[in-house]
This record gives sequence, structure tokens and C-alpha cells, in this order.
Amino acid sequence: MNPYSSTSADQGVNVVAQARPVAVIGAGFVGLVTTAVLAHLGRRVRCLDIDEGRIARLQMGDVPLHEPGLAKMLREEADRITYTTSPTDVGGCELAFVCVDTPPMRSGDADLSRVERAVSALPVGNAPLTLVMKSTVPVGTGARIVQMLRRRGLRGVGYVSNPEFLREGSAVADALAPHRVVIGSDGDDASDRVAALWRPLGGVEVRCDIASAEMIKLASNGFLATKISFINEIANVCDAVGADVEVVARGMGLDPRIGLSFLHAGIGFGGSCFPKDVVALKQLAGNSGYHFQLLASVLEVNELQKRRVISILEDRLGSLDGLRIALLGLAFKRDTDDTRESASLVLAERLVSKGARVVAFDPVVSESPGLGRVSIKIAETLGEALDGADAAVIATDWPEFVQLSDASMARRMARPLVVDGRNLLDPVVAAEAGIEWVGIGRPSMIPVTNSSVVARGR
Ligand code: UDX
Repeated sequence: MNPYSSTSADQGVNVVAQARPVAVIGAGFVGLVTTAVLAHLGRRVRCLDIDEGRIARLQMGDVPLHEPGLAKMLREEADRITYTTSPTDVGGCELAFVCVDTPPMRSGDADLSRVERAVSALPVGNAPLTLVMKSTVPVGTGARIVQMLRRRGLRGVGYVSNPEFLREGSAVADALAPHRVVIGSDGDDASDRVAALWRPLGGVEVRCDIASAEMIKLASNGFLATKISFINEIANVCDAVGADVEVVARGMGLDPRIGLSFLHAGIGFGGSCFPKDVVALKQLAGNSGYHFQLLASVLEVNELQKRRVISILEDRLGSLDGLRIALLGLAFKRDTDDTRESASLVLAERLVSKGARVVAFDPVVSESPGLGRVSIKIAETLGEALDGADAAVIATDWPEFVQLSDASMARRMARPLVVDGRNLLDPVVAAEAGIEWVGIGRPSMIPVTNSSVVARGR
């Protein structure tokens, strides 16, 4: 698949081996996946971060985040990778990939200070360098950075926008098989070098101007978030009218114009991208004098969706004061230890403010910066979280939680009520195990005999 990973002495190997190194600025999730894949393509990579502790850990072979396949690939390609905190190491590189985060500020605008710091720290050298922007930035940022480079007199530095579309949890696989490679530039030959670099991985090339490339990333995430809020609202209507959102989503999604993906109803989207990028796109439109009404609703629906779990619990249990609730999952989705904007943290806070005693369990998260504010207990096993619980809430779609359909698990609870915020369990199997299961937009099932169940509306 990848011609450069071949050990045969073909021409591609020689060309790549002789190429100047590339730099990756930012050793977070995007930066480390980019580092691993560039090294896999045969390039020498200098991975730079200002966090000395993080770089020290990486130098010792310790990858500071949970991403399937990443540690293995970094280990396999270690000979080609150097971790550094020194911006001077960018000197002599052919390309510098900017992979720093751009969190939202209180105003809703993206905080570009880390991007700007990376640009300001670029060494002034003679060798031509191309800055490749992977971080998600507001439209117009590329033009601003080009101005910054001119002001610093860095005329030999080119600029290319090359947004990433990686999903946490499957980022390595996504990076190795991109659907499309978006390359925005002012039309200089730097964009050809970036295109050539990624070409062995395949994917349709989309060559365009910088502003359009920036917009493709924001619009893609805005659209996917809209799909999720749409299906969540359909789920809420399904609850009211007795339809099953899983069946509805499949029936809709088989139309290729709609598609099956991103129609999974639940308690809303989280993570480091969707919430931030939807706000950024709405803000960008607002700053340009346009009120993006649809995105305002997408965000509002998402906030309300997280809180639906509370009303379901109160409908069933009355006051939550003093009740023990097992909160299953802290990560914003399966296969990651990322808790940024996780619906689970919002739920933890709401439950605690209602007086509930929350015992959380996550297969990979045992602490999170967001948890410091709320007083909850973290259990070491799923069973420990369920012991004596008045209800369990599935907040993350970890496959491990399917074990909840096992009757022995249900017996550990004081009341076997499971609010399945990710529609993870099979309602029939759960009912057969004696669980009082409530999903999002799906009819609950009640056991009739040992072997049969019937649907019951909410
Ligand atoms: C997303 C984009 O998919 C990726 O292209 C971009 O580069 C970064 O943002 P990520 O944040 O890793 O990736 O997660 P994703 O798998 O897209 O899920 C985002 C959130 O939406 C999660 O909280 C997930 O649980 C939720 N989701 C997703 C749903 O609720 N329903 C769905 O059908 C799909």
C-alpha cells in the first residue's frame, strides 16, 4: 500500500531518504499522529512541543495519550523521529506542520495564540521552508499568518492549509487512508510538495485557495454536528410518538443522499472538535455580519440532550437526592481517554447538584482535569460502580458496557434501572436479563415471561 515502506531499493526510498527532514509543531493528538505517519512514509521528523515534561516522556518512549495503534507506530518508526523543545530545530526542515490547539475563548473566537507563538518562534534561515497548517483555524487565519511572515521578513517561508479530518480513537487508521486531502495555497509550488508527500496514502486531492481549505474543515464539522443534533431531535420525537430511532435512522440512511453514518442518537456530541468548531463557525459568521441560525440550534439541541438523562431518572426515581448513580464512561466517546467537552462531565455535575452520590467508571480514564470541580467517586471496576446503585447511566459507548446486559451485573444494583445514553445495549437482551432499560428515542422493553418481552412506551 505504501511504496515508501518497502525495504526494496527502489527509487522512492532513495528520494525520501535524501529529503530534508520535516517538523511537526505540537505533540498533541494531531501532532503525534502526523509525526507517526510522516515517519511511516519514510521522512525524518522533528517533533516539537513547548511542554518539556511531554517531550521528556516521548523521548523515553512513553506516549502520553490513549490512541489505538499510535504508540506502536511511534515505536516502529522511532529511528526517524526526534522529540525536541527547541524551535531552532525547525531550521533546515523542508516543511513544518503546525498542529497546536486552538481552543475557544470566552468570546467564542478561536484562541490563536499558540499558532502565533509557533509562527513567531520560526528560526530565520536561508533554506526555504513551508508552513503547513493542520490546526483548525478560522477562515482568514492563513492570510493573517502570511502577513505575519512578511512582517518578520521570512520571505522564503511558504504557507499551505492542509486541514486534518482525524477521528480520535481511529486516528491512525484514518490518517493512513484519507478520503480526501485538502490543500489550500496561494498557488506556489509549496502546495505541490505537500500533495506529493501525502499521495502514497491515496485520497481525492482537493486543491483550492487558503480560505476555502479553512472553510472546508469548519463546514465539514458543522455539518456532521448538525446531523447528530437532527437525529437527536428525531429521537426525542420518537420517544413522544412510540417510534424507534434506530430503525428510523437506518431507513433514512439507506438513501445515499443521506447516508448511514452520524445518525446515531444519544446524549449529544462532545470532544475537542465538534463543540469548538461549531462555535467557531457560528462566531466567524457572526463576526462577518451573518447570523448562522441553524448552528445556534445545533448547539442548543446538544446542550439540552445531555440533560435528558436527568429528566428520565427523575421520571423513574423521583428526587435524586441521596440516591447512588453509577455513571458509566467519562471519555467523550469510546477508544479515547479524552474527556474534553464530554457529556459525562456535564451529567456528573448535574447529578451532584441534584444531591445524587455519583460513582463513575471508565475503562481508561481514572482522572480528568474536568472532574476536579465535582465530588464524585471513581470505581476501579464496572461491578464496583454498579454495587448498590439505584440506577446506571451509560454516557460513553465503550463496548465493555455491553456486559451490563448480564443478569449477574444487574443483580449487583439496588434497582436495575439503566439509562442508556448511547443506545448501546440490545433492549430485548437487557429486558431478558431483568434490566429496566431506557434508551434515547427507542421503546423500552418489559419482560413478559422468562423468554419473551414486549415493547412499552416511555
Ligand atoms: C471529529 C470529526 O469526525 C473529525 O473528522 C475531526 O477531525 C475532529 O472531530 P472526533 O471528535 O474524534 O472527530 O469524534 P467523532 O467520532 O466524530 O464523534 C464526535 C462526537 O459525536 C462524539 O461525542 C460522539 O459520541 C458523537 N456522535 C458521533 C454521536 O452522538 N452520534 C453519531 O452518530 C456520531
